[in-house]
Parts: sequence; C-alpha cells; structure tokens
Amino acid sequence: MDRLRRNARRINGDPKMNTDTMHGGKQSTLDIRLINAPLGVEIRGLDLSQPIDRDTVAALRDIWHERLILLFRGQSLSDEQQLAFTRQFGPTELGPNNLLKRPHVAGRPPDTPPEIAIISNIQADGKPIGELGDGEAAWHTDSNFVEVPPAASILRGIEVPPSGGDTGFLNMYLALEAMPADLRAAIEGKSAKHDPTFSSGGERRPEYAHLNDVSQGPGPIHPLIRTHAGSGRKALFLGRRAGSYITGLPVAESEALLDRLWEHATQQVFSWHHQWRAGDVVMWDNRCSMHRRDSFDGRYRRLMRRTQLSGDRPV
Ligand code: OGA
Ligand code: MN
Repeated sequence: MDRLRRNARRINGDPKMNTDTMHGGKQSTLDIRLINAPLGVEIRGLDLSQPIDRDTVAALRDIWHERLILLFRGQSLSDEQQLAFTRQFGPTELGPNNLLKRPHVAGRPPDTPPEIAIISNIQADGKPIGELGDGEAAWHTDSNFVEVPPAASILRGIEVPPSGGDTGFLNMYLALEAMPADLRAAIEGKSAKHDPTFSSGGERRPEYAHLNDVSQGPGPIHPLIRTHAGSGRKALFLGRRAGSYITGLPVAESEALLDRLWEHATQQVFSWHHQWRAGDVVMWDNRCSMHRRDSFDGRYRRLMRRTQLSGDRPV
C-alpha cells in the first residue's frame, strides 16, 4: 500500500507507522508495527471484541493485502465475537470437516458453531476436542481441496504451550516473483489437483482410500499461478504436497516439477514464524500465503479456535 510505504519512509527506519482513520466522525490512529519479515504486521490498539468502524476495516484490509498476515495481541473473544469480527470482512466459511461433509472429532463440544474449527491437542474424557494434536503440520493452504477455498483464516490462541507450536507463514507472491525463469515457464498455464485425502498433520482421512497413483486421486483442479481477487497480484498456489498432481503430465514429471516448486517456495527468505502468546489473533490471507506448524510437548495444552472468510474460485 502506497500510504504504508510513504509513512515508512517518513518515519525512517522506525517500524512504527500510523494510519489515520475515522472513528465515529473522530480522527483516530491505527498503530501499525511492521514485522521484520517479508510478510506480517502487528496492529495495536484495537479491541476485536467490539465493532470496528468502516474506515478502520477498510484500512485493515489495505494493510492486510500488502502484508498478508495481521497479528493482534492481548485479545479476549468469545466464538460469537470472533465470528462478528470475521463478518466485518465478508461472509464466513465453514471449517474443513463441514466443507468436506465429514464427521468431527469425537470430543468436539456439540454446541460449537459450524463455522468454528478447533485446533487443539486437548482431550475431554479421552476424546480429542479438535484437530492436529501436538504434531508438526506441513506447509499448506487451508481447505485447498474444495472448489472455492476460503480467502482467510482467523486463528485465536486461547491456551498455548510455553514453547513450540510456532506457526510459520510463506509469502507466495514473493515465491512466484523470485522464481527462476525456467521454473516459471514450466508451470505457466498449468494446473494441479488438490487432493483432500491427507490432513496437514499427515493423517489420511479415512473416508478417502490410499492411492498409489496421484493422477487418479480426488479433488478440484486449481491453477498453479492464481490472481488474487483483492490485490490483482499473481501468487504461486500449491495447496499441499501430499496427493498433489500437475494435470496433463506423466506422474514422474509432475513429481519432479512439484519437488522443485516446493523446494523453491519453502525457502526461509519468503517466511515469517510466529511465536504464540495466549490472546493472539492471527488473520492470514489464504490465497497468497501458506502456513505450517511446529510440533510441541504434548504435556502442555494448546487451544486455538479458527474462523474462515469465504473465498472465490482460484483463477
Ligand atoms: C490452521 C493451522 C496452525 C496452528 O489452523 O489452519 O494450520 O498453529 N494451524 O495451529
Ligand atoms: Mn491450516
């Protein structure tokens, strides 16, 4: 965003930036702290449990399009407040199990709204209340395996372990822009299949058979280079590695090209890693970033609740 860059230059090296917005007819200032990484920005001074005025929402959307990930700390939200915050940016989307019309984990509290995904290692009466346990989650896009993947995920950290469980993010605009020309030429105009069989934690969803031939797997076909509907910029769109297949190629060629793409895209130079504190809310752009999670010591509890913004068909 030009306004961000102008302010950044004026403040000259100080990562603190202010964007003036209107609050109920009164001018107020959004406290924006750039994170020293190719994506991510911290926004201070907003209480997400309260309605946010339209100008501030518009300013947040601009900053989000520029920086891909918004971090808000020290928040205390109910599910309903998290959903209300999400709806200020557009219609909500269902969580992954509801999108795939598959059952939830056995210990999920039955009164949980269908738009809320629970990410947790906590068990109630020996049954998991949420997804992903305490293991590592590989780089992925959320719900890439549906025709219209969500535009955003908004993840609220409620209980977090003292260390571990960091979440990493990749800037997929940069991954595309910095791609060697021959690699870019090899994927231009090509698409890939986005298979729902494996979760980001590496577990096979039992409704889906294990196939040895990725070209025969289920899932929608999405372009490898997509144009972001909000920013108009092109981003690399990989989804997740397991079950991926570049349509029209012999499987061995698809595998070799995907290996090269993944090796390129997951370089540290495109990434930011977030260390959670309870009360953090992180909103990522699911169209132009990927994320992963470190494992953590399963003796500690980690509880996150997530909402999603509905997206548009990748083109
Ligand atoms: C997610 C996810 C990462 C984390 O919620 O989509 O991948 O840090 N979680 O729990
Ligand atoms: Mn995820």
